[in-house]
Amino acid sequence: MDLKDKSLFIQKCFIDGHWLDAESKEIFDVMNPSDQTKVGTMPNCSKKDTVKAIEAAKKSWNNWKKLTGKERSIFIRKWHNLILENIDDLALIMTLENGKPINDSKAEITYASWFTDWFAEEAKRTYGKTIPSTMQGRRIITIKQSVGVCGIITPWNFPAAMITRKVAPALAAGCPVVIKPAGSTPFTATALVELANRAGIPDGVINLISVSEKDVANVGDELCENLNVRKISFTGSTNVGKILMSKTAGTVKRVSMELGGHAPFIVFEDADLDEAVIGAMANKYRNSGQVCVSANRIYVHESIYDEFSNRLAEKSSQLKVADGRTEGSQIGPLITPQAFKKVEEHVEDAVEKGAKILTGGTNDNSGVQFYKPTVLTDINNNMKIYYEETFGPVAPIIKFKNENEVIEMANDTKYGLAGYFYSRDIGKIWRVAEALEYGMVGINAGVISTEVAPFGGIKESGIGREGAEEGIEEYLEIKYLCFDGVEK
Ligand code: SIN
Repeated sequence: MDLKDKSLFIQKCFIDGHWLDAESKEIFDVMNPSDQTKVGTMPNCSKKDTVKAIEAAKKSWNNWKKLTGKERSIFIRKWHNLILENIDDLALIMTLENGKPINDSKAEITYASWFTDWFAEEAKRTYGKTIPSTMQGRRIITIKQSVGVCGIITPWNFPAAMITRKVAPALAAGCPVVIKPAGSTPFTATALVELANRAGIPDGVINLISVSEKDVANVGDELCENLNVRKISFTGSTNVGKILMSKTAGTVKRVSMELGGHAPFIVFEDADLDEAVIGAMANKYRNSGQVCVSANRIYVHESIYDEFSNRLAEKSSQLKVADGRTEGSQIGPLITPQAFKKVEEHVEDAVEKGAKILTGGTNDNSGVQFYKPTVLTDINNNMKIYYEETFGPVAPIIKFKNENEVIEMANDTKYGLAGYFYSRDIGKIWRVAEALEYGMVGINAGVISTEVAPFGGIKESGIGREGAEEGIEEYLEIKYLCFDGVEK
């Protein structure tokens, strides 16, 4: 691997300040989704390794939580600086294990660093309240304290940003963490942890355990069921989120769940069409469509349906599909053969039921897991693609007649993560923004992720918010203090 700093490529887990193998010495392979070559191996950790990591985290808690917010902030700021200094290496590692184009990987490392920047500041602002008492002689205040050891379970689609979006607020609040990165993208995570270690974050405060997808329950169950873990933060599918929630119930843990989405993207008849096409392209093809806030149902008013669809198809057909290391690559591979198969099935099912392919609709000859950017029209609600998250570079376009109808269609899903719409009518903008049943709404904006706004969903898309001032609250408990006898 052509890294400037070769010591950033680490194939071990990290417990109590030490890079270790699994106790069993078992390992698993991590493959490059672009060419199916082996990137490296990672320890296949067991319940025993997980318990060791949890105990190390617990031991570190007392000292870490007693630091001032400003002291913790200094560590997070150093980590932030090291992330940016090593952006090229981190991006290359990410492209090799995730497949995303190198420019997208660099953009993700920058995105990841926004959270270390933001939460280094928020560490100093975990304010409590003074509450006017209703009884003479009493004073009431609240203070905020760290939750305790947090289990951080992160996905493969954003191997860096989902770690910093969870770990930076946890550290800022005073919580130690045990990170379990996705089995398919552990090396971005180990590199980030190495940089945290170089930033001087004390032993035990950050731990990382890896496990293959097939054995994931060995680690996941322990994180969810161990009494010493006081919170689980997870980003991933709604199905897995439900399993984790049921497993955490036995010890009544705090949870943050950032789960699946099925975003509507509505283009009204009064929209700026150029902007709507740009927004749809940026949204749909980010990370080859493997994004939980990606548009999965593009609703276009009947008066502009053909024009919008043709323009989107033309631009989609111009995207460069290639190995993420190739200069100018814009669309990388799908993460696994199963992910590729799902995309293929959704397109086949739609076509069988009457959809038309304007562009794409087949695999790309860059490799066996590459799918061409695809635009489908004549989509209806009998098709799988209408109700299920595709997680690929496929843009299904649905025709609508009026505002009420499209809002009803957009809300007709169990998901509620992100929604988008384009309009220039201020009255309609307010009405639609309020009517969409989603945690986040982009208005004339196709990409809305930022560290300063609360990211999260409603309905089966999750619980809790990440980023923003809300993000640190997920790692804090509120304690109410009542002082009596103040006046004699
Ligand atoms: C995700 O897909 O899980 C996160 C996307 C984002 O943060 O923008």
